Amino acid sequence: MRKIFVFSFLLLVVACKPDPELLNSDGHNHTHLDLNIPPGLPPMPIPADNPMSVEGVALGRKLFYDNILSANNTMSCASCHQLSHYTIDSIGALSVGIDGIAGTRNSMPLFNIGYSKTFFWDGGAANLESQVIGPITNPVELHETMTNVISKLQSHPQYPSLFKKAFGTDVITSKLIMQAVAQFERTMISANSKFDQWKRNETTLTEQEMRGMNIYLDETKGDCGHCHGIGSTFTDFEFRNTGLDSIPVDKGRALITLLSTDEGKFKTPSLRNIAKTAPYMHDGRFNTLRECIEHYNTNFKYTKNLAPELKTQVKNRMSSTEIDDLVAFLKTLTDYDFINNPNLTKPTE
Ligand code: HEC
Ligand code: HEC
Repeated sequence: MRKIFVFSFLLLVVACKPDPELLNSDGHNHTHLDLNIPPGLPPMPIPADNPMSVEGVALGRKLFYDNILSANNTMSCASCHQLSHYTIDSIGALSVGIDGIAGTRNSMPLFNIGYSKTFFWDGGAANLESQVIGPITNPVELHETMTNVISKLQSHPQYPSLFKKAFGTDVITSKLIMQAVAQFERTMISANSKFDQWKRNETTLTEQEMRGMNIYLDETKGDCGHCHGIGSTFTDFEFRNTGLDSIPVDKGRALITLLSTDEGKFKTPSLRNIAKTAPYMHDGRFNTLRECIEHYNTNFKYTKNLAPELKTQVKNRMSSTEIDDLVAFLKTLTDYDFINNPNLTKPTE
């Protein structure tokens, strides 16, 4: 019974209505798409110059899954952001691109990406639209030029008419590719975990899960909530140094700001679906949640840029049982419906 309820709830997440203000230049009507945000998440900010439409999302979804975006037509965005793996890759610590060369970072999940303020571990992209060019042209990812992508799409039997439907023009540009993919990414919403169901009084947490939540919040124990705020997106998206290395190999945020005070700082990730997105951290160095917690409890280094929340923490403040409890709580953050959302799978036509 409950399964059926949850499934129909998901189908309701996107609702459509025609919007007369979204007329294309040729007078064709877009179908305005309202994101129906589930309880537990705030309204999503949508940029005024890229309103959501049914046709834009459908085009973005097709592009996201299409190998045409890579130089040798073998990989797509979905190769490294697989829905069945909660939108990360399934190959290990570091992502590998079309030439079989590994990058330096762990793939990041894309659910609730529409809430993020900056993109990539170092915040190197300032908006979801401009982010799209990065993976297409990156030599260790799709390794293609925008000129080639545009000419392949322009001579494709379907794409010109799909761009026309979405944006009112069949002249394909980088900007329109970015806008369509970003529209689809904004529909990747995940907020139906056991924790959310508990918040909605639809289920109960076990005693161990409740203890784990208290440890998460307790400033003298886990103190996870300062950075991965409980509820909503489970992150404030800020950049922090969590003391992984005395001398950071990857300079992180400093690569963008060029400030030495930003060395070793990385974007704080969401902890939603965290039990499903191992390995962990920007370089995928930890394989289990327990290892992550042991880092915060014992192994973090007192580096110069260490986050103030950790600088003041004593080591070994959590017992082994408390770590087990915290892991049990983190497992309640998995949204099992997300990977079955029929609106997010590879389109059929
Ligand atoms: C070869 C694997 C690979 C491919 C292909 C790939 N990505 Fe990624 N993606 C990654 C990795 C690795 C990161 C983290 C990169 C970093 O921080 O430098 C990432 C990060 C992102 C982020 C930032 C997430 C965040 O929370 O800040 C977005 C958005 C994204 N990718 C979307 C896409 C889109 C759209 C495509 C297709 C155009 C794509 N990716 C193709 C591996 C890949
Ligand atoms: C000072 C802020 C801060 C605190 C406190 C904090 N985290 Fe984090 N967390 C981060 C940042 C930043 C990262 C990314 C670090 C990196 O990759 O270099 C991260 C990464 C993680 C990851 C890996 C996520 C992924 O997608 O790879 C997990 C799991 C995690 N934290 C769990 C916790 C838990 C559990 C607690 C409490 C015991 C906690 N964090 C406390 C800031 C914090």
